[in-house]
Order: sequence, then structure tokens, then C-alpha cells
Amino acid sequence: MKSIRDYETVALDDANDAVVIIDQTLLPGKTELISLKTGEEIWNAIYLLKVRGAPAIGVTAAFGIYLLAKRMETKDFDVFYREFQKQKAYLDSSRPTAVNLSWALRRMERVCLENREKPIAEIKALLKKEAVEIKEEDIRVCKAIGEYGLGLVKPGDGILTHCNAGQLAACKYGTATAPIYLGEERGYHFRVFADETRPLLQGARLTAYELFSSGVDVTLICDNMSGTVMRNGWVNAVFVGCDRVAANGDTANKIGTSVVAAVAKRYNVPVYICAPTATIDLGTPTGAEITIEQRPAHEVTQMWYREPMAPEGVKVFNPAFDVTDHDLIAGIVTEYGVAREPYTESLREIFNRKEKEH
Ligand code: MRU
Repeated sequence: MKSIRDYETVALDDANDAVVIIDQTLLPGKTELISLKTGEEIWNAIYLLKVRGAPAIGVTAAFGIYLLAKRMETKDFDVFYREFQKQKAYLDSSRPTAVNLSWALRRMERVCLENREKPIAEIKALLKKEAVEIKEEDIRVCKAIGEYGLGLVKPGDGILTHCNAGQLAACKYGTATAPIYLGEERGYHFRVFADETRPLLQGARLTAYELFSSGVDVTLICDNMSGTVMRNGWVNAVFVGCDRVAANGDTANKIGTSVVAAVAKRYNVPVYICAPTATIDLGTPTGAEITIEQRPAHEVTQMWYREPMAPEGVKVFNPAFDVTDHDLIAGIVTEYGVAREPYTESLREIFNRKEKEH
């Protein structure tokens, strides 16, 4: 039977001018692929979390801006570039926290600027090449993160994860799940605890689903149970993804990650942030400067429930992400190795290594 991991999270259907995604709001009940053609459809799919997870959002935006550029009819670079910038700013406004979105769009913009002397048709072809490369790079990066992450754990270990930093949040392997999938292929038999992740249940609907369908030993827990499983000694490491890592190592990830990290500190469980360098933003000095997305109240009071679960009109606070302070983080696992405290230095070294290898 086809597993959810046999589907592509994000794909380009160039012949039909569409970005094809799995509508993740319907999972796990229904696997439906949807085609996004207009800027509005792409914006809405990102905002409504039909496609979500920092790397997957970046790839969607790259394919999206390519398709929008492909439709521009002018032969004049200045006219083309002005319209490109307009569409880029629009897609970039769909979600504020995951830096991969603006990172991918900036990469696409660079292609336009570096080739401004070439005919528009050639620029369009180069934009397609870059978007495809962003996706392929994501697969290589996640695999490398998996290898480094696997070096931090032993066969049979208990691993806790929060939200979905799995294949559904990227293109293959995921980030936080990459060590788990690679370990599974090599007979490590991890025991994984997946936090359900209120309010949008990415842990229950997506992580538990993709791990379970891949034959991984996964146990779903409510967010308020992580202390219990750690106190019981069932967790040897926490692996989570991230949406933006600041230069000092402070990390924004799904709301609740900081609580998991604080509890893990209490029980001496190391917390590893799995971070493609695309998610590390050296231009943001600390977590205090990271914009945290605020989402609508109905996600807390009634979404996924048959009836509202709170009194109508009650005040709701619904930040989508929180910041985990760097001193709660045992390591930041990138595709160039594991960064450790002091992160201001080690993250810089990671980027130096990246520059040397390119
Ligand atoms: O709101 P979401 O579902 O997009 O949040 C996703 C997360 O917080 C992930 O942990 C993060 O984007 C990393 S995905 C590899």
C-alpha cells in the first residue's frame, strides 16, 4: 500500500503551470493533492497551513514565484523585475516566522538580478532551474542533518519530538525526523514520542501519521505529558525542527517547544534543534528580534472539534511559535555539522564551512 511518504510534499507541474501540494489540513483522514496556480492560491495555501513547515514553505514559494514570473509577458527587464518584486513581497507576507520563505524568494530574486542582461525567456528558464535546485538541495540537506543527528543517539533510544518537522514539512526525510528514518533503515529501533501539538495538532495528524505509516515505533502523547515521559526515563533526546535560529542560538519553533526544552533541562535530556542553514538567520541577533506569528482565535476554540470547546467571545492568545533560549539547547544540527555553545561562534563557523565547500 502507498504510504504518505511515497507522495511528494511539494512538486512542480510545469506543463500545467501549477505547484502541487498535499493538502495537509485533510491529513490523516484524506490524502488529496491540490494544484495551486494563482498567487492568491499559493498565499492562501501557505497561510492556511495546507502546506507548512519551514523548508516546504520555502520550496512552495520558489516554485510559486517561478510560475508567476513565467506568466509575465513583457520583454523589458525593468517592467519584469518590478512585477517580480510585487509578487515576491506578496508571497513573503503569507507567514512571518519561518525564514526559509524569504530566503528562498531572495535566492530567486538574485537569479533575476544576476542575469538582467539576458533575454527574459532565459531568465525564466534560470528561475525554474533555481527553484528545482532549492528542492533538491533540501533533500540533500535533510539527509546530512539525519546523519549528524544519528551520531548523537544510540540504538533503542527514546526520542521526543514536537510539531511536525518530518517529510511533510520538507521534501524528503524531514529535519527532526531524518535521524529517525535513517536509524530505522539501519535497525536502530528508536521509541519515538510525538507531542500532539495544540492547537493545530501537527504532531498527531502529521508526525504520528508519517512515522506510524513508516513502521516506526511511535507513541502519541498530549503536550502536557512530556514531563511524565521524561521523568519516567523514557526519553534520551529531544529532536525538533525550527523556523528561525538567531545568531546567538535562540530558536523559534512551534509553540510549546520552549516548554519541552525547559522540562528536558530539568530531567537532563539533551535538546537538539535540527536546522538547515537556510533556517539560520545570522541577521537576527537574538530571539527577541524574531517576529512571532499570531493566529486566529478559532484555531484554539474550535478548529478540529465538532463543537466549540470554549465560551463564545472568550479572549484567546494564539502565538504560532515560541522562542527557546539558547542555553536550553544542547546542539544545533545542521547539514555542516553540530553547532554547540557559544552559538555566536559555532554558527559562524558552520557558515564559513558552507562557504568553503561551495
Ligand atoms: O505552523 P507550522 O506547522 O508551519 O510549524 C512548523 C514547525 O514549527 C516546524 O517544527 C518547523 O517549521 C520546522 S519543519 C522542518
